[in-house]
Amino acid sequence: MFDKEIYIGRRRTLLNLMKDSGNEGNRGIAIFLGNAEAPQNYRGNDYKFRQESSFLYFWGIDEPGFAAILDLDSGDECLFGDDVDIDDIIWMGPQPSVSSKAEKTGAGTSAPFKEFASNILKAKASGRKIHFLPVSRYYNTLFYTELFGCPSENLRKTAVISENTEISASLQLTKAVISMRLIKEECEIEEIDKACEIGYLMHTAARQACKPGVREQDIVGRMEGVTLSKGWGVSFTSILSQNGETLHNHSHHQTITPGRLLVIDAGAESNTHYASDFTRTLPCGGKFTSLQRDVYDIVAECNELAYTLAAPGIEYREVHLAVAAKMLDGLKALGLVEGHIDDMVREGIAGLFMPHGLGHNMGIDVHDMEDLGEDLVGYDEGQVRAAQLGLGSLRMARKLRPGHVVTDEPGIYFIPALINKWKTEKTDKGMVNYAALEKYLDFGGIRLEDDLLITADGCRRLGPHRLPITSAEVEAAMDSEAAMASEE
Ligand code: GLY
Ligand code: MN
Ligand code: MN
Repeated sequence: MFDKEIYIGRRRTLLNLMKDSGNEGNRGIAIFLGNAEAPQNYRGNDYKFRQESSFLYFWGIDEPGFAAILDLDSGDECLFGDDVDIDDIIWMGPQPSVSSKAEKTGAGTSAPFKEFASNILKAKASGRKIHFLPVSRYYNTLFYTELFGCPSENLRKTAVISENTEISASLQLTKAVISMRLIKEECEIEEIDKACEIGYLMHTAARQACKPGVREQDIVGRMEGVTLSKGWGVSFTSILSQNGETLHNHSHHQTITPGRLLVIDAGAESNTHYASDFTRTLPCGGKFTSLQRDVYDIVAECNELAYTLAAPGIEYREVHLAVAAKMLDGLKALGLVEGHIDDMVREGIAGLFMPHGLGHNMGIDVHDMEDLGEDLVGYDEGQVRAAQLGLGSLRMARKLRPGHVVTDEPGIYFIPALINKWKTEKTDKGMVNYAALEKYLDFGGIRLEDDLLITADGCRRLGPHRLPITSAEVEAAMDSEAAMASEE
């Protein structure tokens, strides 16, 4: 938890942003519900607890069973939670009181949890506006549907809240929170740097373990052990597979085989729950084949291009399109596509090879705030999400500003089913050389991902060290690690 001044300051900023959300005298209340424990089967055997990210951001309390109300008219704040009783003490040990937690987050008052519901109902009955963020977890959905008697879909959709609207998540509150969380504070950047350092160590352990004959699952275990020992755990379910053409491949049943490529997309969550997210692609025998190197070098150049372009004032959508052009230029040199680059970019030909966006926001969530609405988070007013494969999956299109944290993750994948579909449906308008693609059908995929902080005059890669990325650097690292291992 940060110092209480951080949370007090954030809530003051939110209060000011919400001043515009309603008539003077009836702005209403903003309500925040932290996450509950989620039992695996019986109530004493829970999944690992993870606090709701906006609750963490505004109140800092990293425990289940808390909620809070910020009165947007008076500025009063109250933290709701229950002090432990003797049964809890038997199982959990003595715990600090709720009032001491309210003190730590700088909230003026605290009250038992059941008063959270009664305060909301009282405010609603007196015609006050109720603002809450889109709800994602099951228990919180259940809590609000029972409290408000509304369908659960209302809790995920955002609408402008006025005195008489039916219950739904608040567009005003959601936009205000997004505007704050998008721009990272100094204390947050320090935490992301820590998560990136752990991510670096995870990927280093994975690379060192990547040897012919080793099971992918073994590598995952060694890699995830690093973040379990140094941070909170993984920031998302690790992707580690020699079938890297499947973008989010969570199967780890294969054995490392020379000649194949291993895609590792994994990150750490710091103890304060800030994320990192890195991808590297390794040659399983320690050396790329020339076919692999040619494609790998294109992806590495695309990653570098995004880094050189990312700066305040440019839309990340434009960076995505510049990367698409560079990728198509490289693929054209290999004879896989043909035509003018501008035409191919316009027709979305890069989507056949990179059916995802260049990157996303990252912060307390690895895909930061996407529970609040992907377009609200990733698109400026007036920007319209494209329908094309690839560009349509771009989750961060906004004009970059200092303090944004985004991922830079181009990839090239050869997905036989997709290639076949495009060929059958003639989606490529004659710009793809399917005969030349034949020898890539068992290639797999390559993705290379770094995390960028947008600075006043450009950007910097987050984390104290950068993982090897050029094909030469990767081979040199694997070579020296193999030599060290053989000396042991
Ligand atoms: N972790 C998936 C991604 O890189 O977005
Ligand atoms: Mn990733
Ligand atoms: Mn990512």
